[in-house]
Amino acid sequence: MKNLKGLITVVTGGGSGIGKSIATQFSKNASHVVIIGRTESKLKKTCEEITEHTRSVSYELGDVSNGESIKRTFSKIYKKYKQIDILINNAGFSSGKNFETENLDEWEKEIAINLTGTFNCSKQAYPYMKKTGKGIIINIASERGRNGSPDSSVGYAASKAAVINLTKSLALQLAKYNIRVNCIAPAAIDNTEISNNWSEELKQKIKNNIPLKRLGLPEDIANVAYFLASDNSAFITGCTIDTNGGLSMF
Ligand SMILES: NC(=O)c1ccc[n+]([C@@H]2O[C@H](COP(=O)([O-])OP(=O)(O)OC[C@H]3O[C@@H](n4cnc5c(N)ncnc54)[C@H](OP(=O)(O)O)[C@@H]3O)[C@@H](O)[C@H]2O)c1
Repeated sequence: MKNLKGLITVVTGGGSGIGKSIATQFSKNASHVVIIGRTESKLKKTCEEITEHTRSVSYELGDVSNGESIKRTFSKIYKKYKQIDILINNAGFSSGKNFETENLDEWEKEIAINLTGTFNCSKQAYPYMKKTGKGIIINIASERGRNGSPDSSVGYAASKAAVINLTKSLALQLAKYNIRVNCIAPAAIDNTEISNNWSEELKQKIKNNIPLKRLGLPEDIANVAYFLASDNSAFITGCTIDTNGGLSMF
């Protein structure tokens, strides 16, 4: 697989979990990566950790759910690097509550970050890709977006289902600019801010339901993202790859 030498990758929510792992993998493969998030201390720490192996990572503050904030963030990135080649829409939020306990504010926050955030960042990034005649957008959805949620947030599941659909519309509408748009639907990924709250008992219960009998790791998602960003997936667009150890078959 060719590396991503000279390409600029933007990863939203790159300060922790899956986004951090994607940033590490892409920067190790010669792409300069800009991570975006709302918490400066976290972004700084992640950049320092990645910089131990490679120099090619930096951060910008931005709230993906706020159209004006994210416009400023992308314009800063473009001014600094003069190109944006790959966008990973990874920032996400779940209230963790169920239909009976979730309130309207939590529902709206999930839609704003997970769905509107994906729209906002794609809208800001694609003109730069159009200019260079090629680009890659990768959205991070969820298994919950495929199957619905039996026990936790319905706003989260609905927003992720919409991200899978948005992926197809963007793929259809941006193909003429040679921009490929794909999606990954993970489940049960350990070593993230979300999974840090899971008890050992819950982790064991989740494992028992997964055909491959283990939790996923952020690196499992980073590997698929790298494939989708590389020329090895040159004929794939509008597709969602289930990355969940077989869980989505049940
Ligand atoms: N872990 C799993 O099992 C799992 C399963 C399916 C799907 N996913 C999806 O994978 C993606 C990454 O999640 P993760 O598991 O790695 O969890 P995580 O560690 O909580 O990462 C989420 C990141 O998004 C950032 N973020 C949240 N709201 C934001 C906003 N408005 N603007 C900018 N950044 C924002 C957070 O940083 P700040 O709060 O500092 O901004 C955080 O760094 C999410 O889309 C999640 O839904 C995860």
